[in-house]
Amino acid sequence: MKKNITVIKGDGIGPEIVNEALKVLSAIEVKYNHSFQYTEVLMGGSSIDVHGVPLCEEALETARNADAVLLGSIGGNTDTSPWYQLAPNIRPEAGLLKIRKELGLFANLRPAFLYDELKEACVLKTELIDGGFDMMIMRELTGGLYFGERNTQEENGVMVARDSMSYSETEITRIAKRAFDIALKRSKKVCSVDKANVLDTSRLWRKVVNEVSKDYPNVTLEHMLVDNCAMQLVKNPKQFDVILTENMFGDILSDEASMITGSIGMLPSASLREDSFGMYEPSHGSAPDIAGQDIESHCYYSKCSYDATLFI
Ligand code: IPM
Ligand code: MG
Repeated sequence: MKKNITVIKGDGIGPEIVNEALKVLSAIEVKYNHSFQYTEVLMGGSSIDVHGVPLCEEALETARNADAVLLGSIGGNTDTSPWYQLAPNIRPEAGLLKIRKELGLFANLRPAFLYDELKEACVLKTELIDGGFDMMIMRELTGGLYFGERNTQEENGVMVARDSMSYSETEITRIAKRAFDIALKRSKKVCSVDKANVLDTSRLWRKVVNEVSKDYPNVTLEHMLVDNCAMQLVKNPKQFDVILTENMFGDILSDEASMITGSIGMLPSASLREDSFGMYEPSHGSAPDIAGQDIESHCYYSKCSYDATLFI
């Protein structure tokens, strides 16, 4: 097959890990007789440095017209980098949120799998990970707190900041269906994670997920509160198959899940929509403290290159 891939190396360790990923793609081209055409565009801090914005329209258009996007990581040190002196809507992360939203990448798949070779690196006691674990975190990616209205203003002499969170039935239904569909190909268990004892968005989430589950009689559905899930991930990770959750909870839980696979460097991330288009990246950040040293790529990517079958 012939495919056009938009490559976004990004910031920090992004370029060095993408260079390793491109070597893997070259090997795939040879082995399976595929041909990949790459177009490189800028996003994040590197785009700010050149264009003054974290994602320009041309870059977005290039990605829109591609078959897939390969992304490294974006962002810098939020305390020291001059990028974080800019208005929030033109900081590096705004580029990432924009590409996710504009390309409609609502389903974020983050598989956490314990490779035998990395058992030693797992921070959990051996008896907890005996036999390994294999979970798929299905994170909603284009709604919730990340995309709600926000502002900071002075009220009665004190500064007040607000971030708002909303979810519609439509947004919940489409991600829930995706989670159940994937569960059908795995161990047929969905754990939907929310905070329904406090949040309205979570109560609607639970109601809609229950509705969707009626079409999947062969999948076992369980609901779990997010604080309990954070605990269960380190207490008994083997219990999980598909974890379905909203944007912010998914961000936090996927970092936690990555740590028990031995390293945050091990967690791949696919951001998908209904068709076959997707953006593929590691779920870790740009690690500016170790950028340019080729530590990340050597430690993790050479040990275990991305296993595309984890996404199927
Ligand atoms: C991730 C990252 C991003 C997110 C940041 C860089 C905006 O942490 O992909 O998990 O929060 O989604
Ligand atoms: Mg994250």
